[in-house]
Amino acid sequence: MHVQYRGRRCHFRTVDFDPARNAVVLIDQRLLPHRFRRIRIPDHRATAVAIRDMVVRGAGAIGATAAYGLAQGAREFAGDDLAAFREHLARVYETLAGARPTAVDPVNAMRQVLRAMETGATVAEQQRLALEAARRFADEDVAHCEAIGRHGAPLIREGVRVLTHCNAGWLAFVDVGSATAPLYTAWAEGRRFEVFCDETRPRCQGASLTAWELAQEGIPHQVIADNAAGHLMQRGEIDLVITGSDRVLGRTGEVANKIGTYTKAVLAARHGIPFYVAIPLSTIDWDLADGRSIPIEERSPEEVLSAWGAIEGGRGRRLRLGRVRIANPTSTARNPGFDVTPPELITGIITPAGIFRPEELWAHRAELGGPADG
Ligand code: MRU
Repeated sequence: MHVQYRGRRCHFRTVDFDPARNAVVLIDQRLLPHRFRRIRIPDHRATAVAIRDMVVRGAGAIGATAAYGLAQGAREFAGDDLAAFREHLARVYETLAGARPTAVDPVNAMRQVLRAMETGATVAEQQRLALEAARRFADEDVAHCEAIGRHGAPLIREGVRVLTHCNAGWLAFVDVGSATAPLYTAWAEGRRFEVFCDETRPRCQGASLTAWELAQEGIPHQVIADNAAGHLMQRGEIDLVITGSDRVLGRTGEVANKIGTYTKAVLAARHGIPFYVAIPLSTIDWDLADGRSIPIEERSPEEVLSAWGAIEGGRGRRLRLGRVRIANPTSTARNPGFDVTPPELITGIITPAGIFRPEELWAHRAELGGPADG
């Protein structure tokens, strides 16, 4: 990703690793778009907290963070007792896997790291293999997003008006993004278009993160209130919807994504607007057979009852970050973080291996890294 940083255009990855300090390096997404700050996370417990508290968020980014977190935890172990090391590793895995339940990428990423470690005969070898595998996962995440960009770019015709929900951009991955990849590729190919960013209450990842990313790339965009999409669709002002996903069921084609995605898919179907979902292979869950079994994260009611942002007019005219209460103080709230969109509302799933109808994923499982048999 390219970011204007201290007056220069710099390239950063959303998730990185500092081997000398055994630290996961993250962009603190809670501060964006108001402040750009990278932080070092010193141990695997703190890495799990960073995932839970959404210092880092987005399926691919938390996948890579969990992979590095597992390697970090493995490297925290001192000694050469393999049995004790395995017990320690199981605890590290559980700590990281429990941080955010809906996205399947952290589990897929950590399974990849654990498989790679199997060939190591000693603790030291396994520690080295763990970090290599985590790095590989991160590089693969970037490569998958680039391939999504190549397959999805032809959908972005000159002058098209695209709606996206939440943030499935570079901040949600190690780099490039999934839903944004076709946009970035089409832009680089010289096509010009416009993007509507759903605000995405309650945490407003669309208004804060996607809008910031697009601004960094100079792509014309407008933030819209979550309730505005239906009106714009009815007036013929949206031509295409692309979102990301936190878990796509390989057996059924059901798509879990940020709360409000289902609503947009229903609206798009009502207005005959193509609705695409862009994912790397780590987002496919080949095990679950039913969308109702996807664990839906319930987050703090505070996120709904209030809003988080920059407060203008602080001392010295510096922006002060803080929470503003919106709701009636005696009311409570319900805050499911994700919803599940059924396959019949989805035009296509843009993957690194091409675009498929959601119902076709299972038949194409060999190309998509799925199981050999059912
Ligand atoms: O709660 P978040 O910000 O981690 O949720 C992320 C999303 O649901 C995004 O919409 C995205 O499409 C999936 S992550 C690529």
